[in-house]
Amino acid sequence: MNPVESGVSASPDALVTAVEDIRSLFPALEREHAGQPVAYFDGPGGTQVPASVTDAITDSLLHHNANRRWAYPASAEVDATVAGARVAMGDFFGCGSDDVVFGANMTTLTYHLSRTLGRNWGEGDEVVVTRLDHFANISPWRALEVERGVTVRDVGFHPASGTLDMGALAETITERTRLVAIGWASNVLGTITDLAPVVLRAREVGALVFVDAVHSAPHVLPHVLELGCDFLACSPYKFYGPHAGVMYAPAPLLDQLDVPRLPCAPQVAPERFETGTQNHEAMAGTTAAVDFLASLAPGNSRRDRLALAYQALHYRGDHLVGHLMRGLAELDPVTIYGPPRGQPRTPTVAFTVDGFDARAVASHLSENHAVFVSHGHFYGAHVTEDLGVSGLVRAGCACYSTEPEVDRLLAGLRDL
Ligand SMILES: Cc1ncc(COP(=O)(O)O)c(C=O)c1O
Repeated sequence: MNPVESGVSASPDALVTAVEDIRSLFPALEREHAGQPVAYFDGPGGTQVPASVTDAITDSLLHHNANRRWAYPASAEVDATVAGARVAMGDFFGCGSDDVVFGANMTTLTYHLSRTLGRNWGEGDEVVVTRLDHFANISPWRALEVERGVTVRDVGFHPASGTLDMGALAETITERTRLVAIGWASNVLGTITDLAPVVLRAREVGALVFVDAVHSAPHVLPHVLELGCDFLACSPYKFYGPHAGVMYAPAPLLDQLDVPRLPCAPQVAPERFETGTQNHEAMAGTTAAVDFLASLAPGNSRRDRLALAYQALHYRGDHLVGHLMRGLAELDPVTIYGPPRGQPRTPTVAFTVDGFDARAVASHLSENHAVFVSHGHFYGAHVTEDLGVSGLVRAGCACYSTEPEVDRLLAGLRDL
């Protein structure tokens, strides 16, 4: 049981590895630009990785490189790598290892799932998506409009708070709804959505729930069984791992689905969903990323360590984001979008600066202050559209972010 579950609160610094020690594990943090160490605030687009992750990837390719299920040691070692990655992500998701599917990335997994489910859907069937979501959780479902005559309904968000219109969502989910596709956290605004009422409403009408956990995964440890969703997908490259996609899909459900697949490939879940040869080295790297996160806090099991590490990192992220938002609020030309601090949010902040387009701000911060932030719509183009902005600057704190780095970002903005 972690302290959140047990109601015990402890100082984050007592719980988790010191930020300086975490930073020493990330070779990328040694990089300098414009004569200064780089401050990476681009984690929502992909975090840096600790050396243990690249060591695992290298070891996999250099010493255990084979295809699977053959009668020699290197092949058996790859089988073990795959099995180990499923166990690691099972610990991460809070599910069994048979319920873990790997793929190229979340987008590809989602397209594969939509095509699979769409085989049984047609006119009169509906999918609900949201305008707060990344297009990876919209376009795969919209494809079914063209391919299967399915109706896709979208639900908006409140521009002032950056939160989903939960009333509209509840009303849009009806007896015709086959699936609700919902993001746990917005990669643009940082909003964390309470999924419990969504799952409850979907259950009332017998609809499936697909959760995009790509932006939440670095900040909120999922517990898929408690959440009660049917599918949940994320991308290890957002939480200190390699470029890959991983999905929770319960084996009994997956075994029932008519998955597009090669007839000679494995028939049984989870492998029946995995097309072609997998990226074994990314699986090794994913296990290392989960182990890295788990190594940040003590505990009796990997899941316990993860839970404690996430809780402590959340405290830190919350502190940093508070510092950042207070600093931004003092700058008159800056407009912050998304939920205020104190509301459920990730340490990702989106803003604009009057008189400068988002790219110019990002370029100034990079070239003059070695502060790397992202800009644009981040494939959440409905969000920028509904906010009426052409693009946003996005700064996301990660486990290696520090207060002096936030100060450098703020100084860079003052400098504009
Ligand atoms: C919230 C969210 N969903 C989905 C995606 C797509 O993930 P992937 O690149 O693994 O396809 C991203 C990527 O930025 C994202 O932030």
